[in-house]
Amino acid sequence: MNPFQHGVVVTGDEFCPRPELIKALRGHMGARQNCLVRGGRRMGKTSAVMEALKGQRKTGHLLINCWGKTSLAAFIEAVHEAFLTYQSRRGMSLEAILRTFAHLRPKATVDPQTGAPSFSIDLAEREAVRPRSLEAVLEPIGREGRKAPIVVVFDEFQALMQLPESEAVLATLRGAIQLQPKVTYFYLGSLRSEMDELFNNPRQPFFKSAAAVTVGPIDRADYADHLLQRFATGRLKPSEAALDKVFELACDVTGDVQQLCSAIWNCTSRGDSISPETVQRALSRIHQAEHESNSRIIDLLTPGQVRVLLGLARVGGAQPTSREFLAASHLRQPSSVSKALDRLNREGLVYRDAQGYHFFSPFFRTWLLAQDIQP
Ligand SMILES: Nc1ncnc2c1ncn2[C@@H]1O[C@H](COP(=O)(O)OP(=O)(O)OP(=O)(O)O)[C@@H](O)[C@H]1O
Ligand SMILES: [Mg+2]
Repeated sequence: MNPFQHGVVVTGDEFCPRPELIKALRGHMGARQNCLVRGGRRMGKTSAVMEALKGQRKTGHLLINCWGKTSLAAFIEAVHEAFLTYQSRRGMSLEAILRTFAHLRPKATVDPQTGAPSFSIDLAEREAVRPRSLEAVLEPIGREGRKAPIVVVFDEFQALMQLPESEAVLATLRGAIQLQPKVTYFYLGSLRSEMDELFNNPRQPFFKSAAAVTVGPIDRADYADHLLQRFATGRLKPSEAALDKVFELACDVTGDVQQLCSAIWNCTSRGDSISPETVQRALSRIHQAEHESNSRIIDLLTPGQVRVLLGLARVGGAQPTSREFLAASHLRQPSSVSKALDRLNREGLVYRDAQGYHFFSPFFRTWLLAQDIQP
């Protein structure tokens, strides 16, 4: 079986040990210190927090994914659902949960493999929901926190900024959380600029309200050891040069390293040795699989925006208004580059950090370079 999972939270054997990161996360959990966990997309934030929680047997947790919650009611439903799942994990029977929380009209689904139930809530009066309703929703969590250690994980926390009443929601959340010193809140987010706005802007209610942990790339030597062990389960042996190429092509993004290794596994047979050429072959497979969706993205962009993407792919985004960048993207005006980068940023194709602009997906970059698109 392919030992490289991607696109899902990984734990246990699949989780490459990151002892320092896990120690830092557990340190904050142990100290009941609210914590902001930030880092780029697919770097391993959610997996690391789940792994850190796994070792804390006495600590209960609620995992609330804020992504895609387009209304306050949907967010509140997600909090209720996580609370019911928490109760079930703490040993409350399904029957007792359905009876105790009957006012929420929960529906339970039992995982046929693990037997673990999950819940869905459909609030009766969705229109009556107000930001202040959150106080009552969080209150039972505070009560639990007085009995036993509990960590509430808000994943993709920055998504709450998209709610129509986001200002009032964030202010109410902050107020309620302040009244719960026994409960530990973890805020995970991948859109750096939005997370920084939430936690570093003095006008925001969450300003400096949490310690911060950054999830960056896994140390290459540690990751190489882990990957060698995973490949060894299929008697596959990557050379050092092959692993270097994997890290380079994936820009050290954890999820992309996994995706490339998974593709390598799929295009080799037991006992094969893996060279840089094998890695290139696996990358072509990824390009083939993603060709249609990538082409669709390109079709939606203006020719100028495509040129900027090509420039970025060729020379990198440290100095996007430099002469070199303009030449690589066949554009004359630095202002056209800035405008295009703004739009590409809004579309989620590129992001900006202190080092400049980068592709969100390393394999979108390599695909683009392989297309031989003429300016
Ligand atoms: N410690 C690890 N060992 C091996 N693979 C990992 C590890 N952490 C993350 N991954 C890989 O990265 C992928 C993304 O992990 P995860 O969802 O935890 O990241 P994230 O930063 O929360 O991503 P997102 O920005 O999409 O929320 C996983 O599916 C897995 O393939
Ligand atoms: Mg995540």
